[in-house]
Amino acid sequence: MKLLLINIKELLQVREDASLKVSGAAMKELPLLREAWLLVKNGMINDYGTMDSLPVFKGFKTVDCTGKTVLPSWCDSHTHLVYAGNREQEFVDRINGKTYQEIAESGGGIVNSAKKLQATSAASLFQQAEKRLVEVMKLGTGAIEIKSGYGLTTDAEIKMLRVAKQLAEAYPITIKTTFLGAHAVPAEYKGNKDGYMDLVCNEMLPKIAEAKLADYVDIFCEEGYFTVEDTERLLTEAKRYGLIPKIHVNQFNAIGGVAAGVKHNALSVDHLEVVTDEDIKVLQGSETMPVALPACSFFLSIPYTPGRQLIDAGLPLALATDYNPGSTPSGNMNFVVAAACIKMKLTPEEAINAATINGAYAMGISETHGSITKGKVANLIITKKIPSYGYLPYSFGSNCIDTVICNGKIL
Ligand code: NIG
Ligand code: FE
Repeated sequence: MKLLLINIKELLQVREDASLKVSGAAMKELPLLREAWLLVKNGMINDYGTMDSLPVFKGFKTVDCTGKTVLPSWCDSHTHLVYAGNREQEFVDRINGKTYQEIAESGGGIVNSAKKLQATSAASLFQQAEKRLVEVMKLGTGAIEIKSGYGLTTDAEIKMLRVAKQLAEAYPITIKTTFLGAHAVPAEYKGNKDGYMDLVCNEMLPKIAEAKLADYVDIFCEEGYFTVEDTERLLTEAKRYGLIPKIHVNQFNAIGGVAAGVKHNALSVDHLEVVTDEDIKVLQGSETMPVALPACSFFLSIPYTPGRQLIDAGLPLALATDYNPGSTPSGNMNFVVAAACIKMKLTPEEAINAATINGAYAMGISETHGSITKGKVANLIITKKIPSYGYLPYSFGSNCIDTVICNGKIL
């Protein structure tokens, strides 16, 4: 489909340069064109400019964007979108005073989701995940990372990743997959974490790598889950298969996961609700993207990632949903952007940079996604008529999206 968007009130995140991420003070800048046009051809951003210099184009479907803002689609670099059922009961248990950790220790949490997933057919898993995917696409997500980690057996981990691959075939959205076998120690290995790590490293990892089911590798580096030693072991093994790390660190405790990730050239270190000065120093000397998940903090009532502090220290920051049944049963990037402004004190410019170009970086696709750049994939959000882009996080909870374009096609 050839599309010509005209009369765009604000065309956001226009970048001629090839920068793959934005860091520190540069995150305050959101380059834009006012009264603009944009041409989409063969699924790509072909050209753009301002209305006073609109060339004559023939054979294009024209979309009038008067009063509307156009921006690149959200890049959600951290989700667990393939899961079975829900954990509504744990939500109520937490309202009644139990903590996330207490629920996990009594057999709930990740292990609870694993039990459900193991008993669910691939076809049913696909149907459940597909519903969520379509919902987030309508909410403006144009690229998404999906992790395994609710299987916790070789077969169930493979089943999850195959479902994620099927979704990638069935829908125009870009999907990256991550192997998160080391998400929790399953009941069968209670008291034998090393035995489970052997299974993850010696059986799951080779099989998954051989079948090319994962782009990245992840581990939940946290007290009560996996140690820094486990993390280093897995990342060392994964490197042999060319799997780059994107890891869960510092959600509840800073135990050295950030340094381990950076040492192994992690593409991203995610969560970071707890951050030490040492973590910041380590990140400053790296190409690793810190990723904040404010919807998780909101849902669990835990601290928010000190995003303001990270950016003020000159670091980049990405925002993602963490969509999963336990800590974040929402894949709404619009809410994430608003929460980052409201709770983490990011400016709208910083939050939009974090959810587009930096999100793309955190999933290894910023050469093709995350900005309005000629030759990048035409993944676009057209808003309803809004006063200006700051209205997006300001009007949190409202849906400001009018139209979504994914791979050059109107959804
Ligand atoms: O990123 N923290 C680890 N994993 C997920 C939540 C897992 C769950 O509770 O099901 C997260 O928050
Ligand atoms: Fe997560």
